[in-house]
Amino acid sequence: MKEMGGRHILALCVLKESYKFFADLLDCIKALNRNSDRSIPMTVDFIRLKSYCNDQSTGDMKVIGGDDLSTFTGKNVLTVEDIIDTGKTTQTLLSLAKQRNPKMVKVASVLVKRTPQSVGYRPDFVGFEIPDKFVVGYALDYNKYFRDLNRVCVISETGKATYKA
Ligand code: IMP
Repeated sequence: MKEMGGRHILALCVLKESYKFFADLLDCIKALNRNSDRSIPMTVDFIRLKSYCNDQSTGDMKVIGGDDLSTFTGKNVLTVEDIIDTGKTTQTLLSLAKQRNPKMVKVASVLVKRTPQSVGYRPDFVGFEIPDKFVVGYALDYNKYFRDLNRVCVISETGKATYKA
């Protein structure tokens, strides 16, 4: 909360994968707000990105839906992500966001993958670092399957073959 500058936060949910973490994180921020002398106002916004087919990045990030990023202008934006793999998706999103002159943009990601394909990007706030495996559950999917799992699991080769696009 301190690092977000102690003023109005625009929390941005990057759909669809981060909706569980987004909801849990916002509940936590609300609880902090309730227990502090000065509560920080917060608004929420949603954006949808897609760059993966099977377990591979297509390298072509699409923004499909969500509000106009012009709402970022002058705001302290907290972008909430599910997982940073190569980091390309987040870097592209950040460059789009910065064109709108926000006051600040920080990124929170529940997972960061240790991968040799990383472009070297590291988010401001990290939940857990994980090995270079494809994971599902807690809203992360494999071709739209397994978002409903409550826990984060590594998908097996059999699972990948069964649910291949
Ligand atoms: P990046 O651009 O390579 O960092 O990929 C980030 C995006 O790829 C995430 O927001 C996810 O949508 C997807 N992704 C990467 N790794 C995984 C994974 O292990 N499970 C599910 N989705 C993943």
